[in-house]
Amino acid sequence: MRFQGKTILVTGAAGGIGRNITTAFEAEGARLAVTDLDTKGIEAEVAFDGDLTDRIFCDALPQMVKDKLGSLDIVINNAGIITRGPLPEASDNDITLSIAVNIEAPLRLCRASIPIMAGQGGGIIVNTSSCWGLRPGPNHPIYVMTKAALASLTQCLGRDHAHQNIRVNAVCPNEVDTAMLRSGFEARGLDPLSAIDDLNASVPLGRIADPQDITDVITFLASDAARYMCGSLVEVNGGKPVI
Ligand SMILES: NC(=O)c1ccc[n+]([C@@H]2O[C@H](COP(=O)([O-])OP(=O)(O)OC[C@H]3O[C@@H](n4cnc5c(N)ncnc54)[C@H](O)[C@@H]3O)[C@@H](O)[C@H]2O)c1
Repeated sequence: MRFQGKTILVTGAAGGIGRNITTAFEAEGARLAVTDLDTKGIEAEVAFDGDLTDRIFCDALPQMVKDKLGSLDIVINNAGIITRGPLPEASDNDITLSIAVNIEAPLRLCRASIPIMAGQGGGIIVNTSSCWGLRPGPNHPIYVMTKAALASLTQCLGRDHAHQNIRVNAVCPNEVDTAMLRSGFEARGLDPLSAIDDLNASVPLGRIADPQDITDVITFLASDAARYMCGSLVEVNGGKPVI
């Protein structure tokens, strides 16, 4: 029960990794606020349906959580979208949406959360970047750029706010078996089962990650066991390099 009584905001809570995160924190005693475009069916003390591209919603969300739950101890910036394909094929919407969801939303949520956490004597933020944000994979320039920006933001905030007892770190997964990953198979006309087998074979540990593999690192970063970690980018990759 590492998070007994702690209040936590999880974005993208309806997604593959997000649902797993919420279950894990709840099982360890956290009091949960969740947000997503549609939070139906997610177990939480408070749920905010909303679009993270809505600046007013993002800016207000941390204080809304504090108002409902009494404090804001932990923020997990997990929501994200992926845009695939070479840059010349990207639409204006691909660019603005990816920047809004993957960069601007966590930036705004951090900006609004940090003063609340500082006023409480500390807090914890875990961002979800990607191995591809640390080293670029092919043909995903917009996604890679946004995840690199989030990694950089994490390093900056980890350094700038440690003196306020606010720890900011990021988890950087490689491939995880969620709807986000599988949407790429559909787009390329691949059979999901054989595509997963092929990907599993490309990982030195023998399988791509499941959401629990990522959640376990997120809960570690949010726990007291990571009390001396600030601005770290933790790769979770099964030994698979980005090539
Ligand atoms: N799946 C992978 O292979 C992988 C690898 C590395 C990093 N990641 C990152 O992990 C995080 C979680 O991804 P996932 O695999 O669970 O994907 P997912 O698609 O299952 O979940 C993402 C969630 O974000 C929410 N979201 C998207 N746009 C939103 C918006 N405008 N407003 C509010 N919510 C919005 C979606 O509704 C969804 O529930 C993402 O940041 C992703 O980039 C995933």
